[in-house]
Amino acid sequence: MSQFIDNFERKFYYLRLSITDVCNFRCNYCLPDGYKPQGSTNKSFLSLDEIRRVTRAFAASGTEKVRLTGGEPSLRRDFIDIIAAVRENRAIRQLAVTTNGYRLERDVAAWRDAGLTALNVSIDSLDARQFHAITGQDKFHQVMRGIDAAFDAGFDKVKVNTVLMRDINHHTLDTFLDWIRPRPIQLRFIELMETGDGGSLFRKHHISGEVIRDQLISRGWQRLPRARSDGPAQVFRHPDYQGEIGLIMPYEKDFCASCNRLRVSATGKLHLCLFGDGGVSLRDLLASDGQQQELQARIAASLQSKKQTHFLHQGNTGITQNLSFIGG
Ligand code: GTP
Ligand code: 5AD
Ligand code: SF4
Repeated sequence: MSQFIDNFERKFYYLRLSITDVCNFRCNYCLPDGYKPQGSTNKSFLSLDEIRRVTRAFAASGTEKVRLTGGEPSLRRDFIDIIAAVRENRAIRQLAVTTNGYRLERDVAAWRDAGLTALNVSIDSLDARQFHAITGQDKFHQVMRGIDAAFDAGFDKVKVNTVLMRDINHHTLDTFLDWIRPRPIQLRFIELMETGDGGSLFRKHHISGEVIRDQLISRGWQRLPRARSDGPAQVFRHPDYQGEIGLIMPYEKDFCASCNRLRVSATGKLHLCLFGDGGVSLRDLLASDGQQQELQARIAASLQSKKQTHFLHQGNTGITQNLSFIGG
């Protein structure tokens, strides 16, 4: 079976696989009231064997990078086994996780030993009190120690995600720059996205990433080229800094032109976009190894209905209630 490709000639190298909806944080832009099971309470998350099968099908169709997302993926008790199972696919050269950092300090060395190659950690503020206010968890120092532990475990670079919010952190670029000057951290400002649950927060705090981009360019930061399995960030470097700055600006008109990724939710639905699609269930084709051809064929066929863009820039908020069930 050949490479997954859509009607706009976009090729898909990157799978974002959610392995649980559950999260122990209460980020104000995601789960302000904490985790509550969605829909039927007896649904189960993909098993280790189902994860093995779904990643095998993607690997056989050109996927070279998998990101484990959630909820908080590391809350799964079999997280280490999942890492190892995904890496059984030789074609998957990069296996990343996006985490809130809660388990880093304790477990990051074991994740790396099991085959994890990259790490994205959410940190919206470098002020411990503000971090607590945004996430509902007084864990700033624990997460920061976790980042040190990641470097100690042998990661040569860590990405940090900071959701850019007007009047909360949009004016704190200097604090972040001081932090990354001596550290190989790629700090990414993500524009706040409007979700079904987050309308009022969005109206109050959304601000374009241009405010950061303008400051960077005027201070001599330069944009780097993008590789084919990279995420959506525009990355900037400066010779005086070990770290980098990334900007994730989904409201820019051409954001989706370079889309290279597909999503599978924790209950086994294929999502063609973060916004505005209900998902196609793959679960009936994850029951045995013998279904792989059929699974690949269903994904390839579904791709024909992937839209050109999410239309966020034209006011679409999609039907995505929050990003925790689809993994961002
Ligand atoms: P790298 O591959 O390491 O660059 O990671 P990434 O940026 O793809 O992954 P991460 O999980 O850290 O995502 C950072 C932010 O980008 C999250 O808020 C995601 O929701 C957002 N993001 C990633 N892909 C898309 C996308 O296709 N559409 C939109 N609107 N946002 C996205
Ligand atoms: N807007 C922007 N980013 C969001 N994330 C979660 N919800 C939103 C939102 N509404 C980010 C988190 C995390 C990543 C997986 O998604 O900060 O870094
Ligand atoms: Fe949890 Fe991530 Fe949502 Fe924060 S953004 S509540 S850490 S799933």
